[in-house]
Amino acid sequence: MANIVTITLNPALDKSITVPELVPEKKLRALSAKVEPGGGGINISRALKKLGVASEAIILSGGYTGKTLEALLSKEQVAFTAIETEGDTRENFVVFDEDKKLQYRFGMPGERVSDQELGLLMQAIGNFAHADYVVVSGSLPPGTSIAVFHQIAIIAQQLNAKLIVDTSGDGLKAAVKEGLYLIKPNLRELASLVGKEWIDMADVIVTARQVIAAGACKAMAVSMGADGAMLITATEHYKAAAPQAPVLSTVGAGDSMVAGMLAALTKGWGWEQVLQYGVAAGSAATLHKGTELCSLSDTERIFAEIKKN
Ligand SMILES: Nc1ncnc2c1ncn2[C@@H]1O[C@H](COP(=O)(O)OP(=O)(O)OP(=O)(O)O)[C@@H](O)[C@H]1O
Ligand SMILES: [Mg+2]
Repeated sequence: MANIVTITLNPALDKSITVPELVPEKKLRALSAKVEPGGGGINISRALKKLGVASEAIILSGGYTGKTLEALLSKEQVAFTAIETEGDTRENFVVFDEDKKLQYRFGMPGERVSDQELGLLMQAIGNFAHADYVVVSGSLPPGTSIAVFHQIAIIAQQLNAKLIVDTSGDGLKAAVKEGLYLIKPNLRELASLVGKEWIDMADVIVTARQVIAAGACKAMAVSMGADGAMLITATEHYKAAAPQAPVLSTVGAGDSMVAGMLAALTKGWGWEQVLQYGVAAGSAATLHKGTELCSLSDTERIFAEIKKN
């Protein structure tokens, strides 16, 4: 079994509630409430666990919110290494309007992380001598320099591990300078990476090949929400359609997709199946309300459907 290390620089405690209807001024009583650990890398580790694949989540964690997050991770039996920060772990808030079946997502900014805390995080990554995959996902804490991607890339290289990054904006632009193994931008993120407003689906392969030819990554999975995803390498390209099922929440779809691709990679599968299993896991995450990630049974069922098409 391959060793996977996920890194979450800006974790969050995700709180989600369901209300009968979202209306102003009125006191809204929640029909249900849930608190979960969140943040890109953490969600990938949690989704991997659901898919039966072990990983180690390296996280920054502070304050009582950080302690709660750690307790929740332990309860889910997700292995983690927490670097304590002086600032509190942020909280995110999702409200589901039961009447309109609409979801509202509120994100809080998070606190600054010191250079010393980041240094300890780098050390923790370096300790995983057997890592085969280092996965960085999610946003950066406010004020954290995009130079962290260079630092992480150096450590991944020393560990002889493949580096996978799922982030956006300037972070993604900085990360691809390091020559990554795999990136998973959505269409908007790919457009921004090449300095465009938007990219049509018809131009994805050509654009991805340009990015790959420039040495940014070995493979690129471009996710397209309800339209599924494409996977492009220098010599191969595949497309996988997402199943048409009622979508309850797209929260965690991207993270579940990355987890699905990782699960397939650790099995030694080729890129086509890696894409198909990733799309299956991403779509599996949309079948449930709120922040729920992919389940193994949904992922396997959708994977079987995708393979037939
Ligand atoms: N509406 C949808 N219907 C079916 N599948 C979906 C839908 N939205 C997302 N997915 C599945 O999840 C995958 C990733 O979704 P998406 O392209 O929205 O990623 P993302 O923009 O990175 O999402 P995130 O907001 O989680 O970062 C898709 O390739 C698809 O398999
Ligand atoms: Mg995403």
